[in-house]
Amino acid sequence: MRHSTLSKKDRINFLKSVPQPDTMAEEIHSGLARDNKTLPPKYFYDKQGSELFDRITDLDEYYLTRTEIGLLEQHIAEIADLLGKNSLLIELGSGSSIKIRFLLEAIRPKAYVPVDISYAHLLAAAQRLANDYPWLTINPVCIDYSKLWSIPISDTGRRNAFFPGSSIGNFSPSAALDLLKKVHSVVGERGGLLIGVDLKKDAERLEAAYNDAAGITAAFNLNILRHINRRLDADFDLDNFTHRALYNEPAGRVEMHLSSKTPHQVQVQGERYDFKRGETIHTENSYKYTVEEFHHLAALANFTPLKTWTDPLSLFSLHYLVAH
Ligand code: TRP
Repeated sequence: MRHSTLSKKDRINFLKSVPQPDTMAEEIHSGLARDNKTLPPKYFYDKQGSELFDRITDLDEYYLTRTEIGLLEQHIAEIADLLGKNSLLIELGSGSSIKIRFLLEAIRPKAYVPVDISYAHLLAAAQRLANDYPWLTINPVCIDYSKLWSIPISDTGRRNAFFPGSSIGNFSPSAALDLLKKVHSVVGERGGLLIGVDLKKDAERLEAAYNDAAGITAAFNLNILRHINRRLDADFDLDNFTHRALYNEPAGRVEMHLSSKTPHQVQVQGERYDFKRGETIHTENSYKYTVEEFHHLAALANFTPLKTWTDPLSLFSLHYLVAH
């Protein structure tokens, strides 16, 4: 049976596609040339990295995904009331996520605007959703969402943004504030933001979430080196590094590192980098907040927290904020 007179293709209209200049080589060199070596976390996500990340979200130790989905499921009626029907729904960093489906079904937005840096991911996800929801209009925007200041739709209706997964924690607090201000400018006054934020808790549980017994997170972290070997002319030996995750409590963040097991050298495009034994490459931060700390950050970006949901163990929080 045909559901709609509009074909799938006609219901997917890219609003914007900003070609990304390839700056990988520069970014890798500048990170490795520092005294405290770093690598940009976006290079985790090649095909294999994305598959490993999907497996992380299923791990027993990685409580974040299932707790957030539980909160969404449990409170979906109230969430739908707050967001309202027929709004424009903008998702930041839309992946292959199941979470958006709860929302789409509950609020039936006027249009769904997934924003993602990867054109291939955007298109594949949009095609699947267009297939499953014949009533849905999809307007993907292919851009790095941390650069998003507006969306090119002249629609005066209400706008809601959705930013799940505690991805806000992968930004430093000052970068997170900048990002919230950008979201504010995108949804406009009285627009809303539904956002998932991981909570501060004991170091043991946090460190286990980023250093699982099966070694999936270790494989994910190490995969960034394989990705660099493949994309650039580089000779990282993955056996020379081990994965480390530690909760830096004063800074309020879990830090992911790759630690060199032995003194050795790596060549990247003819450039030599020396590693001492125990020296690390810092690959990612995941900042954790208390509910009060997050409300404070939101207030600095002119968002009022209307409602916050947490699970009984206070592992994770979901917030609905309104722009003023
Ligand atoms: N946004 C996720 C988080 O901070 C990303 C993530 C999960 C991650 N596990 C990781 C990033 C391991 C690097 C390494 O929880």
